[in-house]
Amino acid sequence: MNHDAANRTFDCESTLTDTQVLEFCRNGFLTLEGVVSDEINQRTCDYLNGKLPANPCFIPEGLTDADLERIRSTHEPSTILLEDWFIEHVLLNEQVAGALRSLLGKHVGLPVLVSDHSVECPAPAQGWHQDADHIFGPEVNFIEVFYFPQDTPLEMGPTEIVPGSHIGPAQRDAADPGVPTGGPAGSFALHSQSILHRRGESSGKGLRHMLKYSYWRTGAPERDWIIEPDFDFHRSYYGGHRAARYVAHMFYWLCGKGDEFRVIGGQGWPWSTENQIGPSYGFGAVGGYLPDWRRNNLDGYAN
Ligand SMILES: [Fe+2]
Repeated sequence: MNHDAANRTFDCESTLTDTQVLEFCRNGFLTLEGVVSDEINQRTCDYLNGKLPANPCFIPEGLTDADLERIRSTHEPSTILLEDWFIEHVLLNEQVAGALRSLLGKHVGLPVLVSDHSVECPAPAQGWHQDADHIFGPEVNFIEVFYFPQDTPLEMGPTEIVPGSHIGPAQRDAADPGVPTGGPAGSFALHSQSILHRRGESSGKGLRHMLKYSYWRTGAPERDWIIEPDFDFHRSYYGGHRAARYVAHMFYWLCGKGDEFRVIGGQGWPWSTENQIGPSYGFGAVGGYLPDWRRNNLDGYAN
């Protein structure tokens, strides 16, 4: 792990494979369960509950002790990002960092803002929503993270998400469940900020925290995660109708090949089904179309 405190970045080995990066493009999220120690999870909760004195590793330029004290008391207690123990064991957690390095390239930018989504359980579910200021597109310029510092079983209303809902506008009935994130203390959900999500209904008792923050890309994308020698761009599964074209575009963008990406539509690549007797036509098309992420064209292609 190479942590550049002055530039607020880190670098480390990528831990995701081609298959896992493509899976992230398809689902819009990945989870890591219980990867932070109990001691650090407890310390995080104590910090958030005001039971632990602040000990920032430095005072950022332009801020004063009084500013830090004020920030800590808000619903955005970003001062936790200045605690050495939080940086080392949560922000730079080996498994979290390896996945982020795979998706965001070298010198990943560390978060500058934290939101504490705390709720006193029991509480009703939130409405389904895609967060403010999201953008639909092939770019993966940042990854948002949910960190659950205490055990967050279903009774404690973990955030629910809808796999694959990050590629375009999505609505969902309140009665329809999603996939719960959460799990044992120290669990993470790394996801596209555009994904449809909500706080789940809770029936348990007590205060539940969930910290939300984003890591940022600082360089051009390239395929520098773990390459699988037999990974086949032509025959991989990118998703079904109205999804595969966007997923493949995102994967190509991450490979640094976003500009080359073109599709011919219909049952052509990147769409495929397991019942074909040969690979889909249209792979590597030069004169094809780009998916229309803005949804301005009736056929879903931009040009
Ligand atoms: Fe939200």
